[in-house]
Amino acid sequence: MRGLIITIDGPSASGKSTVARGVAAALGYRHVDSGALYRAITWQVLEAGVKPDDMVGVTRVLAALTLEWLPGEHAFLFRLAGREPGPEIRSPAVAAAVSAVAAIPAVREWANRAFRQTPEWGGVVMDGRDIGSVVFPEARHKFYLDADPSVRAKRRLGEQTGDGAGAGLDGVLEALKRRDAFDRARREAPLAVPPGARVIDTGALTQAEVVRTVLDGVQTEEARR
Ligand code: DC
Repeated sequence: MRGLIITIDGPSASGKSTVARGVAAALGYRHVDSGALYRAITWQVLEAGVKPDDMVGVTRVLAALTLEWLPGEHAFLFRLAGREPGPEIRSPAVAAAVSAVAAIPAVREWANRAFRQTPEWGGVVMDGRDIGSVVFPEARHKFYLDADPSVRAKRRLGEQTGDGAGAGLDGVLEALKRRDAFDRARREAPLAVPPGARVIDTGALTQAEVVRTVLDGVQTEEARR
């Protein structure tokens, strides 16, 4: 299959990144984890001692940032300000601040310009919150993964990543619902099902089954054309 753009949106811990990686590997495409770029920008903002909702301060940090895409076999990694981000972008501090930073229009414009460069290297599978609605509205393969918040909280707890870490299931669920509510309510590119996206409830499916469902959807649509 020729290099295409496949978008996978959805709330936190809906399984987007794992599924996007699986789909990219199956098709020989590259996965782009758009949330990782928002997290890395947020980490730079915090390192600079700037508050995440300080629009002027964040814009100043952004103006000094350089980004370099590193196209690997099945994924894009990147260097931001000369450094490849590590586990620090999954920390509770970054998880708590990222929604505020990602709500700033200048940050979104900057990130969107960067995301739109990636198809120059070939087919991409990009996961995020607004990839099918804003970044690549013209993409012909759009998916939206969702699951009940309690299912997602259990998954996030199992991953031992940032959201409400150390606070048990109730803490993780609370942090996840707070971030979802903020991402859905923001004025700029809110989390929503993109027009034309196929919704998949991942609650009762294994990751392999979700990957299969996405691949079947892509192949069926391509055969129809
Ligand atoms: O997918 P994630 O949990 O790593 O994303 C972290 C945050 O980044 C999320 O709370 C909202 C923001 N984000 C966004 O606003 N738009 C995207 N396309 C991807 C992530």
